Amino acid sequence: MIKIKNKISIERMQKAGQLLSQILQETKDLIVPGIDTLQIDNFIEKRMLSLGLKPECKGYAGYKYATCISLNDVIVHGVPSDKVILKSGDFVKIDVVGSYKNYCADMARYFFVESVRDEVKKIALVAQTALDCAIEYAVVGNHLSDISACIQSIVEQAGFGVVRDFAGHGIGKSMHEQPDIPNFGVKGQGPILQEGMTLAIEPMITQGDYAVKIMKDGWTAKTLDGGLSAHVEDTILITNNGPQIFTR
Ligand code: MF3
Ligand code: CO
Repeated sequence: MIKIKNKISIERMQKAGQLLSQILQETKDLIVPGIDTLQIDNFIEKRMLSLGLKPECKGYAGYKYATCISLNDVIVHGVPSDKVILKSGDFVKIDVVGSYKNYCADMARYFFVESVRDEVKKIALVAQTALDCAIEYAVVGNHLSDISACIQSIVEQAGFGVVRDFAGHGIGKSMHEQPDIPNFGVKGQGPILQEGMTLAIEPMITQGDYAVKIMKDGWTAKTLDGGLSAHVEDTILITNNGPQIFTR
């Protein structure tokens, strides 16, 4: 069942999204050579707590950190570590879930460490374009799979791969609710979108093959072929006046 959110839930999710968005803006200044990803995680966690956000990743399925920080060929769920040190040219993706008064927002953004190769800029732009298109399709009366199909078509037309092993999701009191939102599919399938649904849409795309391998830590998901990967995510509300993005 896909939950329809009431006004209070929506206001809280919106607040969570605004605060997360603000924090990731602030984080930009930390993305410099020499900093490790645990320091970045600590900064974000501290800012979340001081702004009234609960870091929902911490404690989720035994995960120990507020954020996932994924570099280069890491697709998602990169584990913050003092041994992962940013260097010039790195492609950094930060994913964070925070709740305000028990209602979640989920978002991911990418950052460049100094200047990056053109292929990094290219994959980042395609992921962002796919997310923006997906959000445009998140309107009352569309089928859920219209979102998926639009992501797949943009990504594949640009020559990139769409990861099958992870998906976007409904979101609310829990970070993961119904429905699953795959980043591939044919349009016209699945539930009809309705006002009050809240979705976390998150294309995860690869330069080469979309096959994934999970590292020994049980979390870090990399491309099997070592190619670059990009991921961006927003939490949105479907309304009769079009999509409302909580996390921008
Ligand atoms: N933000 C991720 C998502 O989109 C979840 C992170 S997994 C966790 O679903 F363990 F870090 F919480
Ligand atoms: Co998510």
